[in-house]
Amino acid sequence: MIKLNYRNIKDSVIGCENGLNIDEMFLQYKDRIAEIITSLNERRSQAGEGLEWMNLGDHEQTIWYVKEFASMIRNRFDNVIILGIGGSALGGLAVTEALLKPYWNLLDNEQRNNFPKIFFLDNIDPDSMNGLLQVIDLKKTLVNVITKSGDTAETMSQFMILKDLMQKELGDDYRKHIVATTDKKMGVLNHIANQEGYKIFYVPDDVGGRFSVFSAVGLVPFAVVGLDIDKIISGVKDMDLALQNTDIYENISAQGALIHYLMDIYKGKKISVMMPYSSRLKYISDWFVQLWAESLGKELNNNFERVNVGLTPIKALGATDEHSQMQLFNEGPNDKLITFIRINNFDTVLEIPKIFEYTGIGYLGGKTINDLLNAEADSTQVTLLDYSRPSLTISIDSIDEYNIAQLLYMLEVQTAITGELYEINAYNQPSVEQSKNYTYALMGRAGYEGSADILREKLS
Ligand code: PA5
Repeated sequence: MIKLNYRNIKDSVIGCENGLNIDEMFLQYKDRIAEIITSLNERRSQAGEGLEWMNLGDHEQTIWYVKEFASMIRNRFDNVIILGIGGSALGGLAVTEALLKPYWNLLDNEQRNNFPKIFFLDNIDPDSMNGLLQVIDLKKTLVNVITKSGDTAETMSQFMILKDLMQKELGDDYRKHIVATTDKKMGVLNHIANQEGYKIFYVPDDVGGRFSVFSAVGLVPFAVVGLDIDKIISGVKDMDLALQNTDIYENISAQGALIHYLMDIYKGKKISVMMPYSSRLKYISDWFVQLWAESLGKELNNNFERVNVGLTPIKALGATDEHSQMQLFNEGPNDKLITFIRINNFDTVLEIPKIFEYTGIGYLGGKTINDLLNAEADSTQVTLLDYSRPSLTISIDSIDEYNIAQLLYMLEVQTAITGELYEINAYNQPSVEQSKNYTYALMGRAGYEGSADILREKLS
């Protein structure tokens, strides 16, 4: 099981100005936390609550269909391209980066056990899209177009380019190279996919993009590159069971949520830094940043009062950021709560050879890169303490399907509980929709003339 250590947020450790009397706070908030967890678990099966993501571990039929699809296309493709943006891409990217062998796309077929290379086109940069098209063979490529709404401009424009190219290059066979993941009821992608006869997976109702990593949105990409989705789902289910515990002393997501909330309202820590000490977890920070920002950055609370809440998430990477952002984290404004993620056992132990005796570097010989990384993580933590900066540490035994699923699910529940503490709706994104509408208006989509008028006025 994943562990959360909150020693370094205590007033007894970093002083009263920046630290919390956590024993007193747990006592004060334990009933509120129990109420929130009970309520989330009561509402998780009610339509319209946006909480179906909590039940994705039980969507056995989807899991079965995904596995069947992956085995049907086994050995057929050299590449898979994922088209999606925001919540439709970040979970897939984070998990595949964490779990596939490093530099996956540079490995040969045998090293990849004949599973395809994977490319995420989660931005509409014309040069990078064109660049990818120059280096892959579309005849050996599967495209998974993922958009819950079914009409996101970025994703659908890339899809239109690829569909056109594939049709020209592959003739009628192109249909077998496209798999769509979208909503059953809304959006144009479902319509196109049905009409064209693509394989379709559905994003269940009440699962928002940023909470969709364990739906077909994530599971299809995971399964086609050979990740064990049964282990992923078992990590989710076990963590779900643990997090149904209403006792603040036992529930790590509730602890993380409450500490962030209290650090904001009592200690002015309005920035939340996610800093894994593992390059493989780099994109977990990107995923977390989106989850945290879109869920918690809200103008209105549940009573429609203006609150403008939200903890600004920042991504950082250990040890790299010790030579970059850490100076600011230590000496700049004391407005951050840092969450470290530490891996107890890496897959590899990499020894540093004893080849130099210079005082400056000789001491490194005979140690391991693992020792060095751990020493750096410890030093960073202690330096932060010297400057009275609060930090949390999440520890994971090793990087595998089970543990990564646990980590992501734990952070999803932490986000949900934090949203409840702020009394906001963590599952909508009105300003994202507003900006999407402006884009539609600018690009001349019918029905958006009103937004076009507002835009013209504001841009003039
Ligand atoms: O988390 C969210 O809801 C958003 O980030 C969406 O995932 C993003 O806007 C993409 O939307 P869609 O999946 O409809 O294309």
